Amino acid sequence: MPEAVLWRNAHIATFCGDKPYGWIEHGAMVTQGDRVHWIGGMNDLPVQRGMSFAAEHDLGGACVTPGLIDCHTHLVYAGSRAREFELRLQGASYEEIARAGGGIRSTVMATRAATEAELLALAVPRARALMSEGVTTLEVKSGYGLSEAHEARLLRVARRIAQGLPITVRTTFLGAHAIPPEFEGRADDYVNAVCEWMPRLKAAGLIDAVDAFCERIGFSADQTRRVFESATALDLPVKLHAEQLSDQQGAALAAGFKALSCDHLEYLSDTGVAALAAAGTVAVLLPGAYYFLRETQLPPVAALRAAGVPIALATDHNPGSSPTLSPLLMMNMACTLFRMTPEEAWRGFTLNAARALGLSAGYGVLQNGSRADFAVWNADHPRDLVYRFGHHPLRRLIAAGADITCATERTA
Ligand code: NIG
Ligand code: FE
Repeated sequence: MPEAVLWRNAHIATFCGDKPYGWIEHGAMVTQGDRVHWIGGMNDLPVQRGMSFAAEHDLGGACVTPGLIDCHTHLVYAGSRAREFELRLQGASYEEIARAGGGIRSTVMATRAATEAELLALAVPRARALMSEGVTTLEVKSGYGLSEAHEARLLRVARRIAQGLPITVRTTFLGAHAIPPEFEGRADDYVNAVCEWMPRLKAAGLIDAVDAFCERIGFSADQTRRVFESATALDLPVKLHAEQLSDQQGAALAAGFKALSCDHLEYLSDTGVAALAAAGTVAVLLPGAYYFLRETQLPPVAALRAAGVPIALATDHNPGSSPTLSPLLMMNMACTLFRMTPEEAWRGFTLNAARALGLSAGYGVLQNGSRADFAVWNADHPRDLVYRFGHHPLRRLIAAGADITCATERTA
């Protein structure tokens, strides 16, 4: 039995129960190994019932939240797209740049040219930067390799991030991200190849879920369906980059496969909203990409809310459409740009993000038996962290019951 550790004198957002934020004023927690053993008010501490602790931490009245979950990132890649940013500022669109062979393809070239060690050395500081804002779980998509060997390498790097850092990493195979040059004009053949690689990548333990980019500059609904059929045959859950630049009715297609999530969704229709609601699929909104691509079509937040679709948020960190490493800024943008509430933003980076990754119930909340993943903040209340932006308010970060604050040093 691991020893019990007491964390006392904190105000805790648990995201459990009916109270806003699942708030416990003047609370305390007991952790045992990687689990929360007990959580409640200071007055109800189990010490009163004779429990003793191997260690005790006074959190000084700070605000505590679950560790953040960044459920949509493209963290492993090489190269920069700053030149493309300049071109877009001069009037070129994201779509035009992609059609001219830039965009995702240019990152594919840079990523293929890098070694596995170089890719890891680039990815780790990015993960640390996310951790410095409270992230204890993150998802990494492939999709910048686009050959079996290069995709496998990228997914291996994603797995190695979690071997070097004390966080949880989930991997998503996004072979259907773009058509690589060697398959130019042969999209269907490329989709066949992606479907052939999938069982081997799964057997190598490299995939937790499968994603695709269903878009005019990505893959058609039919091609996406074929990718999903292969994933489903392998018992792998699916997700989709859907309705980012146009309405391809990708969300309805994904919902038909009981997708864990559909992501972006600026162009989601009412039928799409209803399909997500019926399937229990999470809507992952990505304010960083909306902002950075100067999109003006807002995702239908009010309709999603009215239909009871769980809404998650993520950084979508990638070099082309969202080069941010700040989940807190994403929460602020979700409120200012998308009119979400600060509490919705928090639920979006905690329990709904856990659901978007198909993680077990113990992630993204703080309750008896949940993961002991939590952040201690220089703030009185979680809303303060959404209201401010450009701050670095993290005081301590705990993952699986261990203090990992020293691993959050920002080097990116
Ligand atoms: O989530 N839309 C497709 N994929 C990424 C962008 C990738 C890139 O531009 O490199 C996204 O926005
Ligand atoms: Fe993305």
